[in-house]
Amino acid sequence: MVIKLNSIIVTPLVVVVIILLHVSAAQGGSYPLNITNPVVIALGQFAVAEHNKAAKTKLEFREVIKRYVRPRYSILYYELIVYAKDDDSLHYYLTYLQREIIWSKPLVLTSFEECDSGNESNVRCNLN
Ligand SMILES: *[C@@H]1O[C@H](CO)[C@@H](O)[C@H](O)[C@H]1NC(C)=O
Ligand SMILES: *[C@@H]1O[C@H](CO)[C@@H](O)[C@H](O)[C@H]1NC(C)=O
Repeated sequence: MVIKLNSIIVTPLVVVVIILLHVSAAQGGSYPLNITNPVVIALGQFAVAEHNKAAKTKLEFREVIKRYVRPRYSILYYELIVYAKDDDSLHYYLTYLQREIIWSKPLVLTSFEECDSGNESNVRCNLN
């Protein structure tokens, strides 16, 4: 259900992003994502849903905190920080997604890790 919604919503975003990126012709740069945009929220929901499937967890998506998309040739690399509920507590997760656009490959989750507050992985998540 979530996945179906995503493929509908995410495709138009990708098209818009691609147009913008091709106009700027700045391969290799990073572009901030609008975290209140429903399309970006759908990316966060997709990441949590895929992680739940793979790791047999039951995280509940809350919101996307921040991050960017980095185009490289025909692949868009998304880096997101997602805020999600695990049982009774809320946690931040650093997650990476990617999508090949020319051949319209599906969105793929490549990494999903908790940002552990109080050690260097929190610094990597750069929550402050
Ligand atoms: C971000 O997305 C929201 C929802 O689509 C929109 O209302 C808002 O204007 C956007 N902000 C920017 C800076 O584009
Ligand atoms: C920081 O937290 C991560 C995730 O829990 C853990 O894998 C890593 O070993 C921790 N690093 C240190 C230095 O404690």
